Amino acid sequence: TRVALAFSGGLDTTICVPLLEEEYGYDDVIGVTVDVGQPASEFDEAEETAEALGLEHYVVDARAEFAQLCLDGVRANATYQGYPLGTALARPVIAEAILEVAIENDCDALAHGCTGKGNDQLRFEAIWRDSDLEVFAPIRELGLTREWEQEYAAEKNLPVEGGNEGDWSIDTNIWSRSIEGDELEDPNYVPPADIYEWTQDPSGETEEIEITFEKGYPVAVDGDEMDPVELIEYLNELAGSYGVGRTDSMEDRMLGLKVRENYEHPAATTLLNAHEALEALVLTQEEREFKQLVDQRWSKKGYEGLVDAPLVDALEGFIDETQKRVTGTVKIRFEGGQARPVGRDSKYAAYSAAHASFDTETVGKIKQEDATGVAKYHGFQRRLAKKVTEDEDGD
Ligand code: ARG
Ligand code: SIN
Repeated sequence: TRVALAFSGGLDTTICVPLLEEEYGYDDVIGVTVDVGQPASEFDEAEETAEALGLEHYVVDARAEFAQLCLDGVRANATYQGYPLGTALARPVIAEAILEVAIENDCDALAHGCTGKGNDQLRFEAIWRDSDLEVFAPIRELGLTREWEQEYAAEKNLPVEGGNEGDWSIDTNIWSRSIEGDELEDPNYVPPADIYEWTQDPSGETEEIEITFEKGYPVAVDGDEMDPVELIEYLNELAGSYGVGRTDSMEDRMLGLKVRENYEHPAATTLLNAHEALEALVLTQEEREFKQLVDQRWSKKGYEGLVDAPLVDALEGFIDETQKRVTGTVKIRFEGGQARPVGRDSKYAAYSAAHASFDTETVGKIKQEDATGVAKYHGFQRRLAKKVTEDEDGD
């Protein structure tokens, strides 16, 4: 009997290794770490911990696939309560990759180190329970606390250093870096500057770049074509140096718990702002209004870790149709911690400078005075309604 464990080398997943043996009776545990763009130090930690535990360890590179999903998120302007869904979108990709390794290695079970309080347990298990393999969540099922885990690790002499970056619980991939736990659990605690690693405190300096989109997907910066991973990494670095992309929020989790969350996501903020600016140029008013509903539903499924739901395919039918014209360029200025659109251009612009300009009197068959009829009708029902009540009051 073999079990495949989602393994990071952190406290939770490390203690899962002996627990799966002792409490669940598995003599054979394999650890799987999926690369969605975590820093190199996290892989070193995972390797070292696996070696010290004598754990058979696999690393799967899923960066390209994950980056593509992030850019699908850009087309859907995908955010949840201000957060561009880095952790959320990564989970199904990670879960799939682990399931594949588990099947290749004849495992009959899967395990993760998520708590029973968070979202990740739901996202992992939605994918895993599509298969026939058993699913175990030792931390949740055994009702473990951090304190118990630390004592257990010390007793067993397990190779844990009490978290990788101080006391924060951190989740990093190419789309976002999330920081939670410890003092941050107090909603009124102001985060110290050093919780942030990707984003500098905003300076007085500014810089402008131009992003090229094709059918809603960003493909180039300042004319240099890049693949999704390169593009995201490049913008994380550049926009982060201007302090772009911080979120500090009270997040409503799927279970209904509110949690204090901090995120940084420079590339995501830059690309989302640029994409919306281009849509504003090319889409009609009614498309933009309806797309907000579509985007919101896409984001919700993204947050839930259910991007493979039939609803998402249906929403993407609408998104594909609208994105046919979302081709062009957007100029972004990094300034004061913001990535602000300051110019946009597309051959599909639903915009006529001549019609909008104060300097032109007649364009084609439309003259200024043609608006007079519209002005006479505008507010008509409201005028009638007010008149009726005024007459009544007068009696
Ligand atoms: N609450 C966030 C989400 O549901 C991310 C939590 C990430 N975990 C962490 N230890 N920082 O997507
Ligand atoms: C966890 O509870 O394991 C991490 C946070 C989350 O899943 O939302």
